[in-house]
Amino acid sequence: MRIPVKVLLRNLRISTVSGQLALLLAVPAAGTLAADPAPADAAAVERGAQLFQQYCTECHGRDGRAQLDVISDATDLTMPVDYYNGHSDQEIYTSIADGAGVAMPAWRPVVGSDEAVWDLVYFVKSLWAEQP
Ligand code: HEC
Repeated sequence: MRIPVKVLLRNLRISTVSGQLALLLAVPAAGTLAADPAPADAAAVERGAQLFQQYCTECHGRDGRAQLDVISDATDLTMPVDYYNGHSDQEIYTSIADGAGVAMPAWRPVVGSDEAVWDLVYFVKSLWAEQP
């Protein structure tokens, strides 16, 4: 039986990144989100984590909470219901790829591929404390 990862995560309310990774590794057959171009598997989340450390922590913090003494008013990425621009996969993709608000630049040209942006989408979602 194939159960979407999103549903699994929502039902189990697994809140930590390592918990979600462990689950994704434990049930590889469930690692495909229907509308997404690439599997949201543990490898994608890990690639996203590395990109995030490289490009995003300056404003969003290492934990994504943006509780920093920073110039910009970056979104707390752990709280999807508070996202200004929506928290569907496509909306998150667009925010990252094309930039958001006045302070966040477009990252698609920086990271160099659609796949890298999706990796970031999956990593950002792995930060969510609760599924919306
Ligand atoms: C220069 C500071 C800065 C950097 C660096 C930055 N962001 Fe942001 N980010 C922001 C700000 C400010 C917002 C809020 C934009 C708005 O007001 O709509 C934001 C919003 C977002 C959103 C949309 C959330 C919402 O409210 O809808 C996502 C997703 C996001 N950032 C991810 C990332 C990722 C992934 C990276 C690294 C590739 C990154 N950000 C790098 C400043 C930054």
